[in-house]
Amino acid sequence: EENRHGIVMRDYLVVTRGVDPVALENDRMANMTKGAHSDDLNGLMRGVAYVAVQELGTRVSHKNTGKACNDPVADRMLQRIAADENLHMIFYRNICAAALDLAPDQAMEAIAGVVSNFDMPGIGMPNFRRMSLTMAKHGIYDIRQHLDDVVWPIMRKWKIFERNDFTARGEQAREELAAYLEKTEVDAKRF
Ligand SMILES: [Fe+2]
Repeated sequence: EENRHGIVMRDYLVVTRGVDPVALENDRMANMTKGAHSDDLNGLMRGVAYVAVQELGTRVSHKNTGKACNDPVADRMLQRIAADENLHMIFYRNICAAALDLAPDQAMEAIAGVVSNFDMPGIGMPNFRRMSLTMAKHGIYDIRQHLDDVVWPIMRKWKIFERNDFTARGEQAREELAAYLEKTEVDAKRF
């Protein structure tokens, strides 16, 4: 499905002449050649926690990109992609919820590590910083949306701050996560 999302978005941009297809392909190759961040995906638990957050991030950003395009075709196409991303998110979120019940401390450490070091997969692409500012400016994705529409809904679903099944190890990770979220809340207000 992710591959088909890439195909349909690229084809849309080419047939509408929305971008220079050669520049797009060069940037795509640069991003793919760079690869993923192995630190973030180290271990099954961290990998699953990462995609639970990231899939919801893509759902939000694709949906908002559809609105920003100001074209009913792009909007319908991106809503369809966002609906797929939502199902991906639910799948990984359910696995993580089961992990929290089975091994609360281990799952909590992975979640705290992932949320506190989170980058979207596009971080390796050329001009990512400039493009992420453009996205924020047009209401597609920013820190506020990352906290309110992505991180907090998942934390609430997992009842992270209501659980009483952690030992000292899990409790420490939860406190680190709480401190990170407080600091990011300040950043979001400043931004
Ligand atoms: Fe996805």
